[in-house]
Amino acid sequence: MNFKNIPKHIAIIMDGNGRWAKKRNLHRIQGHVEGIKSLKAVVKAIIEYKIKYLTVYAFSSENWSRPPEEVDSLMSLLSEYIRIELPYLIKNEIRLNFIGNIDKIPENSKKSLLEAVNKTKNFERLRLTLALSYGSKEEILNAASKIAEDFKKNKIDIEEGAGISGELFSSYLYTAGMPEPDFLIRTSGEKRLSNFMLYQIAYTEIYFTGTLWPDFRRKNLNAALKNYEKRIRRFGKTEV
Ligand code: FPP
Repeated sequence: MNFKNIPKHIAIIMDGNGRWAKKRNLHRIQGHVEGIKSLKAVVKAIIEYKIKYLTVYAFSSENWSRPPEEVDSLMSLLSEYIRIELPYLIKNEIRLNFIGNIDKIPENSKKSLLEAVNKTKNFERLRLTLALSYGSKEEILNAASKIAEDFKKNKIDIEEGAGISGELFSSYLYTAGMPEPDFLIRTSGEKRLSNFMLYQIAYTEIYFTGTLWPDFRRKNLNAALKNYEKRIRRFGKTEV
């Protein structure tokens, strides 16, 4: 597939797993299992298209309040995904990364995640970032608190009148060092941002599709990318 212009960083809110399962009289977990297949298909296409960054919302800080059975299953799926995919990530030079507060993630899942992050840290073909136990407001508050602490400890200097620069602030976010997303896709028909990358998506192009995440495969990604191709990004300026 050829695209005239392709985003460098795609972010995805993978929504609709539960509804996909319900429609088929299956358990919600089956929706997440099928959702992993979509994630694999999208990663495969994205490396072929030479897209450098993919960030997916796998588990929000609010998702901890789902029934314990679903939370446990999602955590097991996370370890299983990493165990099964690690050889593929290594073979394809994909760097696995996460954003979020992983303190609450069960020890065994956390361990396999950190091991995979470490084993893939030198790869540059694609950076695959899992947003896990992630909440954007929490990320922003955490950045502001750390800046205040570092200022108090004289680790950073903030010139009076000049304030905190965007560059400094970004370096305190979980996404430090990553470019901001060019394109955000949300599946399942919901038109919300659900506390996802609020600071980083200030000028991101957004695409909503009614397709449920487990049904979202390469052809759906192609349609989204075709739509992106037509967008004229002005970043608040006038068209040249
Ligand atoms: C939203 O669907 C999806 C999630 C909360 C989890 C996303 C997880 C996956 C795609 C699979 C797990 C991936 C990894 C890497 C662990 P929903 O459950 O909110 O669906 P609904 O709105 O239809 O109920």
